[in-house]
Amino acid sequence: MSLKMAFKLSCWSCLILCMAAYYCGQKVFDVTQYGAMADSKTDNIQWAFSNAWKAACEFNGPTSLAIPQGIFFVGPVIFRGPCYNNISNAKIANLTFLDSKGFHMSIQRSSNVTIRNLNISTTENSHNTDGIHISGSNNIDLATLTIGTGDDCISISQGNTNVSISNVACGPGHSISIGSLRKYMNEKNVAGVNVRNCTVSSTSNGIRIKTWHGAPPSEASDITFEGIITENVSNTIIIDQKYSRGITAVMRGTSNKVVAVNFMCSQLVPCENVTLHDINLEFVSSSGSSSITSSLIQNNSSLVQNITSSCLNVKGMALGIQKPATCL
Ligand SMILES: *[C@@H]1O[C@H](CO)[C@@H](O)[C@H](O)[C@H]1NC(C)=O
Ligand SMILES: *[C@@H]1O[C@H](CO)[C@@H](O)[C@H](O)[C@H]1NC(C)=O
Ligand SMILES: *[C@@H]1O[C@H](CO)[C@@H](O)[C@H](O)[C@H]1NC(C)=O
Ligand SMILES: *[C@@H]1O[C@H](CO)[C@@H](O)[C@H](O)[C@H]1NC(C)=O
Ligand SMILES: *[C@@H]1O[C@H](CO)[C@@H](O)[C@H](O)[C@H]1NC(C)=O
Ligand SMILES: *[C@@H]1O[C@H](CO)[C@@H](O)[C@H](O)[C@H]1NC(C)=O
Ligand SMILES: *[C@@H]1O[C@H](CO)[C@@H](O)[C@H](O)[C@H]1NC(C)=O
Ligand SMILES: *[C@@H]1O[C@H](CO)[C@@H](O)[C@H](O)[C@H]1NC(C)=O
Ligand SMILES: *[C@@H]1O[C@H](CO)[C@@H](O)[C@H](O)[C@H]1NC(C)=O
Ligand SMILES: *[C@@H]1O[C@H](CO)[C@@H](O)[C@H](O)[C@H]1NC(C)=O
Ligand SMILES: *[C@@H]1O[C@H](CO)[C@@H](O)[C@H](O)[C@H]1NC(C)=O
Repeated sequence: MSLKMAFKLSCWSCLILCMAAYYCGQKVFDVTQYGAMADSKTDNIQWAFSNAWKAACEFNGPTSLAIPQGIFFVGPVIFRGPCYNNISNAKIANLTFLDSKGFHMSIQRSSNVTIRNLNISTTENSHNTDGIHISGSNNIDLATLTIGTGDDCISISQGNTNVSISNVACGPGHSISIGSLRKYMNEKNVAGVNVRNCTVSSTSNGIRIKTWHGAPPSEASDITFEGIITENVSNTIIIDQKYSRGITAVMRGTSNKVVAVNFMCSQLVPCENVTLHDINLEFVSSSGSSSITSSLIQNNSSLVQNITSSCLNVKGMALGIQKPATCL
């Protein structure tokens, strides 16, 4: 199934995509033909979206679900099978998500999904409002997204392989994260995540691999962050207690915290094969003052900071520019 969504969808409640489909094709199911009205301020038309989805899902052959231009006020919608238990070969593009009460979009047990040109935003202080959450999926390609939330812009949790993310403007929010991992028993590994040409602004983390303590180890490997620009980020690179290997990072920008690069890996399963290549970060306080631009600021010891890196149980190498000085 190809999900062809056109233009603006504005929802006041959470829109969860947990979809099921298999084919990609031309038969179009338009939500407005199922009772959805655009530009009405009082709609609560998740049933129209559900019915259009159900019809598309039950159709024997390749289909598309279309949301024409307009603003639709919808409650939570779950696009889920009877048709299949996951989604394959789908494209989701040209949508705006506003103020979800939970994850704005969740992609689960899916493959070959392309996501383009989505704008996702909600307030900075709203919890668990991840922009796009991905789990148990493979061959997922996300590009040209603008995401500002109260939680992760994109979270890549267990069981994902071959996830490509590029040209994402993230912030405010937490970060583009791998994890949380090890939250539950029997989690699958994460392998092959490429994050390229993204900017991360005013977030609590830049790039992050986060792990809960306790559950049996799983592994994150072959992870590349390249061309990442940070602005006013607190934990610019943070890897927290994870068996992680094959991680490469290339980035520049600013950190508002002194320890800008922080590897906290476990003694039992250290982080291996970590490559930091051309890391060029400078300290800028979160109020926006650069430590190098004014002598007044230079006299303020809380603003004059050399950023540092911290390594615990991590093995790897550093290439090219290393600001802060590497601890690898
Ligand atoms: C999204 O919009 C672009 C530009 O208008 C268009 O080329 C593209 O086909 C659209 N994608 C979908 C899936 O509708
Ligand atoms: C992936 O999905 C697209 C539709 O979005 C389809 O055209 C393409 O053939 C699919 N690729 C594979 C390998 O199935
Ligand atoms: C998302 O925002 C960008 C920048 O403001 C804009 O160019 C783009 O058209 C928007 N996309 C949608 C789907 O509204
Ligand atoms: C999705 O479902 C199809 C058909 O049931 C199956 O072949 C495929 O392996 C499933 N993909 C995932 C990622 O679970
Ligand atoms: C990775 O996913 C992309 C689509 O996102 C696909 O074109 C590519 O073939 C996949 N690579 C592998 C090794 O499966
Ligand atoms: C990232 O940016 C570089 C330099 O502008 C460009 O060569 C490369 O194609 C871009 N990659 C992606 C995936 O956007
Ligand atoms: C820096 O980020 C914090 C949130 O982490 C935000 O409150 C502050 O306004 C940002 N400062 C600038 C200069 O953008
Ligand atoms: C580290 O990288 C080297 C060279 O790429 C490879 O031979 C080795 O197997 C890797 N080790 C781990 C633990 O991934
Ligand atoms: C900063 O400190 C230096 C040396 O202590 C002093 O000479 C200078 O006047 C101070 N500058 C400002 C703007 O306070
Ligand atoms: C130093 O900077 C901090 C943080 O911005 C600010 O709260 C404090 O007032 C400054 N102190 C002086 C003497 O300028
Ligand atoms: C920052 O580092 C530079 C060069 O290593 C050094 O000269 C300077 O004293 C350091 N400043 C602070 C506040 O540690």
